Amino acid sequence: MKTWVPSASVAEVLSDLPGVECAVYNSSTPMPEGIEEVEVWVPPLMPVPDVPGTLAKMTSLRLVQTVTAGVEPYRPHMPAGAVLCNARGVHDAGTAEWAVGAMIAVLREFPGFADAQRRGEWTYHHTAVLADSTVLIVGHGSIGAALERRLEGFEVEVVRVARTAREGVHGLAELPALLPQADVVVLLVPSTPETAGMVDAAFLGRMRDGAVLVNAARGSVVDTDALVAELRTGRLRAALDVTAPEPLPEGHPLWSAPGVFITPHVAGSTPASERRTLRLIKAQLSRYRAGEDLDNVITASY
Ligand code: GLV
Repeated sequence: MKTWVPSASVAEVLSDLPGVECAVYNSSTPMPEGIEEVEVWVPPLMPVPDVPGTLAKMTSLRLVQTVTAGVEPYRPHMPAGAVLCNARGVHDAGTAEWAVGAMIAVLREFPGFADAQRRGEWTYHHTAVLADSTVLIVGHGSIGAALERRLEGFEVEVVRVARTAREGVHGLAELPALLPQADVVVLLVPSTPETAGMVDAAFLGRMRDGAVLVNAARGSVVDTDALVAELRTGRLRAALDVTAPEPLPEGHPLWSAPGVFITPHVAGSTPASERRTLRLIKAQLSRYRAGEDLDNVITASY
């Protein structure tokens, strides 16, 4: 069973599965031989340059198992007969932890105090605080639930929104009414045609004065120009792990917008995610070999 994997550590963890023949392919290795015989592809965290072209040449493909929660580079290009599975759960801990850290950093002005420290200045003043605030989680999947668990000790009210309303979770259509009540809005929705540009000038305009936008989803969810315009008024602040475009080019207006804290898409890039990734891939390929049902199959409702 010819399997392309993103790293030697994934190949190593699969080495005791009989019949699984691994080759490493990522954006810094040459493409291995025999693309037309690849049955299982575990693509790397950073997509290879031509995902549609690569998938089109994989004429024996049966399974794509991503190491990311987001599957937008693969989903529109999946060949008929192949199944797409994501890494739901793998990045919950890292991403939820980043979101808590980022909202606290912005509310408590850590980036500004770090700048003052470099200047050797004691800039005493009061700051905002997370306690007693309302945190609106937009995209209440497994990362949203992990975030909510981590927020339990912070004395906040959590309001949940997902694309489909359910018990205790509001639907996206209710966002206009919910946004003005939130002190922190955390984006965790997947990148789909429905969420593209969802955070536009009208969305931002409904956010409360002084509120913080936290994006741990995808840059495409936010209209970057509208965010820059809103940040420049000083009315809102933001913590962004993802941007559009990405990487954010030198000189982009977002770098110098006031009140924004930017990290380079690192929320899930931790040893915790790496350990969980290896466990997931091993379990999925064992199930695949045994002809059992796979976890995290991406369906039309993703
Ligand atoms: C990371 O961005 C992921 O989609 O898991």
